[in-house]
Amino acid sequence: MRNTFFIIALLGGMVLGGCRGSISEEPPVHINPNMDFMERYDPQSASGFFADGRTMRPPVPGTVARGMLKDDTRFHLGLEADGSYVQGIPVQITQAFAQRGRERYDIYCAVCHGKAGDGQGIVMTGGYGFAPIGYHNDRLRQIEDGYLYDVIANGIRTMPAYGQMIPVADRWAITAYIRILQRSQNATEGDIPADILSDIRPAGSP
Ligand code: HEC
Repeated sequence: MRNTFFIIALLGGMVLGGCRGSISEEPPVHINPNMDFMERYDPQSASGFFADGRTMRPPVPGTVARGMLKDDTRFHLGLEADGSYVQGIPVQITQAFAQRGRERYDIYCAVCHGKAGDGQGIVMTGGYGFAPIGYHNDRLRQIEDGYLYDVIANGIRTMPAYGQMIPVADRWAITAYIRILQRSQNATEGDIPADILSDIRPAGSP
């Protein structure tokens, strides 16, 4: 009995050992198939089950991805509930936010509107076909922040829309930077803190 067991074990070992290194076209032995092999649809394949013949099901109309609900019209559209433009930027403005606005402005807007917002961007000097538009006039200084946001998102007249490439928060950051440009180009002596002013113009000089 014992010998028989040993002989069988020895033969089995030789048979299995003999397989090592040999190549087979057959799939490996799958002792527990679980759900590894079953009927399934491949992505983008046709389906005979659904009326529209599509395997991949479109979301139910009105579906909103988690975290993507745009119910804040002030933030997403720059509009108050009554449809008028928001007066102020509905985001807390920090130094980093303003820096971000400057960076985005220099990337997307400066080519046409100029780095200082004077409308002397390189594209305009090349003959865009329209008079350059600067931000330094009373109308645009007094206009609502929501209006500037809307111009970025949807464009205006001959200016193309930039909403496709500039996300919502960045549109507000650029809006803040336009305000900074406007302030910087329309500043008075009173805007300069006294300690800095004395550095610029030594006391006693005219
Ligand atoms: C391809 C050139 C171009 C680029 C880039 C561009 N603009 Fe303009 N923008 C224009 C032109 C042209 C006008 C004038 C449109 C008109 O009056 O027909 C304009 C007008 C404006 C106005 C004034 C709207 C008004 O009421 O008069 C604002 C504000 C403005 N752009 C902001 C931006 C901002 C912010 C960006 C960057 C996100 C930007 N623009 C990028 C060409 C450009």
